[in-house]
Amino acid sequence: MARKVVFSGVQPSGGLTIGNYIGAIKNFVDLQDSYDCYYCIVDLHAITIPQVPKDLRKNTLEVLATYLASGLDPKKCTLFIQSHVEAHAELTWVLNSISYMGQLNRMTQYKEKSRKSEENLNAALFTYPVLMAADILMYQTEFVPVGDDQKQHLELARDLAERFNNRYSETFKVPEPLIQQFGARIMDLQNPGDKMSKSNQNENSYILMLDDPDTIRRKIRRAITDSIGEVIYTDDQPGIKNLMNIYNAFSGDSIDAIEDRYRGLGYGKFKDDVAEVIISGLKPIQERYIELMDNKDYLETVYRQGAEKAQFTAMKTLRKVYRKVGFIQK
Ligand code: AMP
Ligand code: TRP
Repeated sequence: MARKVVFSGVQPSGGLTIGNYIGAIKNFVDLQDSYDCYYCIVDLHAITIPQVPKDLRKNTLEVLATYLASGLDPKKCTLFIQSHVEAHAELTWVLNSISYMGQLNRMTQYKEKSRKSEENLNAALFTYPVLMAADILMYQTEFVPVGDDQKQHLELARDLAERFNNRYSETFKVPEPLIQQFGARIMDLQNPGDKMSKSNQNENSYILMLDDPDTIRRKIRRAITDSIGEVIYTDDQPGIKNLMNIYNAFSGDSIDAIEDRYRGLGYGKFKDDVAEVIISGLKPIQERYIELMDNKDYLETVYRQGAEKAQFTAMKTLRKVYRKVGFIQK
């Protein structure tokens, strides 16, 4: 029997954080043995925010190297660059024709980003979730592993699949989000009410996957906690809860086991250990990353072969869609 399809994507918009790793990439790796996985580097999405062309090229290769260094195996899954499969932009256009302005206007990510960059409110930022829906629906995707912040976009993808199916007959599979119980939203270390994001001005608020050990120790030591002094998993202690989620993701130890281990020990020892589990979890990834970035030929082979495979599946869906909406076959 054919394996079920998993699709996800990461934007090449500069250094990835441990939020990206825990919320997304780490789970991509866990899924590759049991599903037919497509993991994309979404460069079309990245240009909804102004990019310096040469940095975009560099960041795109960096995400690919990070995927591989984290354990994604191109023999098991399809790794590709979004702009290499033209069908993504084409399907977006068709889906735009059944997307309601009102619904796009309500997308929280759009509202936040447009508030931050009013002078650069471009149309692509508005239609960003439609492109994301096209990515997903293109591959008849069953599951989409993402962080919690993408839930609303997933809901839109489901709506568009159902709307298209109702209007033109059964065409798309309706996808399900795959959001984990712990670590679906890694929070800002300086302000645990916000999600950790590399776009934050204060670099103490996030940890990058490529941060060196001393930087990680320093950032964790400075992380905001509280005056309660106990390592307990509760919404009343958002800073500690966040560090426990990070600890859990890197060590595999359960939240209960972590509470037991640090009972009565205070925050100092706990923070030191959080830093060490991050450092040792990232070390093999960082080492492999450096080797991969030194081997551009290999990266090129991976993304070329990935695009070829993705293109084949994508064209099957696009042809079907074009036929159903009434375009004459060329
Ligand atoms: P992006 O960098 O926005 O392309 O995000 C790539 C993936 O990482 C998406 O699945 C996001 O939901 C996930 N992600 C980003 N930031 C976080 C965070 N702070 N916590 C958990 N997941 C995150
Ligand atoms: N919008 C997602 C993010 O910022 C990235 C993305 C684009 C994506 N296309 C996707 C995620 C398709 C999952 C599936 O995180």
